[in-house]
Amino acid sequence: MYHTDMLEIVTIGEEVLREKAKPIKSFGSELRILVDAMFESMEMDNGIGLAAPQIAVPKRMFVVHPPDDEARVFINPEIIETSQEVVSYEEGCLSVPGVFSEVVRPAGITIQAQDLEGKAFVLKAQGMLARVIQHENDHLNGILFVDRLPEERREQVMKIYEKKQKNKRRKKTV
Ligand code: NI
Repeated sequence: MYHTDMLEIVTIGEEVLREKAKPIKSFGSELRILVDAMFESMEMDNGIGLAAPQIAVPKRMFVVHPPDDEARVFINPEIIETSQEVVSYEEGCLSVPGVFSEVVRPAGITIQAQDLEGKAFVLKAQGMLARVIQHENDHLNGILFVDRLPEERREQVMKIYEKKQKNKRRKKTV
């Protein structure tokens, strides 16, 4: 049985975030419980998306719940089409907490995945939904949003991140 307090979100530096996640083969109550716990954990942390590797489960699955949109689960997803048009949008990540940066990605995508019952579906997405899906799908391939930044910007963002982490640790010890 999974409990929300077991779902600690791992942060950059943890090896599991860099692995290529493995396909999910069994669709049953255990998967459903894990998905429920992921939604709970994501919403508690005010996230709009969460991928299984972020809770140290290296499986091909993620959940999303963008504002003013429905909650969705994607199992064994594959982005099968991306638009030529690209857009820049500010991203953050629960695994790189406290930093944000504009990231350029295709404006629209088509994704194929399975639902909780293992049934295949295809979804076309634009705007925020397309953005979140691409970010979460990257997690399944060991890619973080900071990897998508131009080198100079990435170094800048990581410096800010390290500084924030240091301050946080300092606060904890006093
Ligand atoms: Ni993320």
